[in-house]
Amino acid sequence: MIVVTGATGTVGSRIVRGLRERGEQVRTPVRNPGAVPAEWDAGVTPVAADFTDPASLDAALAGATVVYLLAGVDPQMAQHERNVIDAAVRAGSHPRIVLQAASGVDGPHEGVRFLTAHAQAWAHLRASGLPWTVLAPNGFYQNFLLMAGSVRAGQLSVPGGGAAVSYVDADDVAACAVEVLTGAGHEGALYTLTGPAGLTHGEIAEQLGAAAGHEVAYVAAEPQAALAYMLGAGWDPWRAEGLVELYGYYAAGSAAGVSPDVAGLTGRGPRPLADFLAVNGGVLRGE
Ligand SMILES: NC(=O)c1ccc[n+]([C@@H]2O[C@H](COP(=O)([O-])OP(=O)(O)OC[C@H]3O[C@@H](n4cnc5c(N)ncnc54)[C@H](OP(=O)(O)O)[C@@H]3O)[C@@H](O)[C@H]2O)c1
Repeated sequence: MIVVTGATGTVGSRIVRGLRERGEQVRTPVRNPGAVPAEWDAGVTPVAADFTDPASLDAALAGATVVYLLAGVDPQMAQHERNVIDAAVRAGSHPRIVLQAASGVDGPHEGVRFLTAHAQAWAHLRASGLPWTVLAPNGFYQNFLLMAGSVRAGQLSVPGGGAAVSYVDADDVAACAVEVLTGAGHEGALYTLTGPAGLTHGEIAEQLGAAAGHEVAYVAAEPQAALAYMLGAGWDPWRAEGLVELYGYYAAGSAAGVSPDVAGLTGRGPRPLADFLAVNGGVLRGE
């Protein structure tokens, strides 16, 4: 039985779709089984579970053969991931854990809390004795759709400095996940998932502008100003500070590299940003 956590989110929902397209049965631990995506058919079994509730995780992971471990960004993210790993150990079926971390989890990332949290969970996983695989995606193209309001006002304003980032399509991340969940030979592997090119935020702003139908200027925000803006907008401080740290990591050029792993896993190259925006540009235009 394949178990997919985080199945209602950006990547998880795409993984469930991909597994069902292959005829796989999927169990999905969800916080609210009464509000699952309408597209989930009888081949998807939602089970009430919460990362904070070990007993619920025991029930959700019983008999699992492979578990996709995706915990959303949260101050307790590392603990949530450890809780799932511990429940998988207790399950007794010795499931393989496919941990969704983030690119850079296997390199120096001091002071970048999202990466530190995933690194802690990965260390816990290695010590668990369970077979494991890590997917380490770069930032998602989908994040730019969340900035549609700012893009419509003609700005991409993030504290990303002048370095390139090889952002990736969440569809490609999910396609890799489906391969790794259903295929053999992935034990002990870490796959870094990037798009086909490193792009500066200036270049990304140009592409957003082309998709939106008007000029979009990149404004390299100061980290403290970006943090103040997010806190003023009611963001959780841990998450806002973490995002500023991550953009600092981007600005240092640490997320610019292009990996061959999407092509290696799926047999086709990762989707370019321009192709993604050609399909999703309507969101930027407010359609
Ligand atoms: N965004 C990026 O650009 C990016 C890039 C690389 C890596 N990542 C990593 O990818 C992960 C986020 O992936 P995503 O964007 O697909 O996630 P997402 O859309 O934020 O979804 C989070 C999922 O986790 C579930 N969840 C949250 N708290 C839970 C709890 N206490 N118990 C059970 N389920 C819970 C949510 O369920 P509900 O429906 O109940 O809320 C949802 O299904 C993070 O680990 C992040 O570090 C993100």
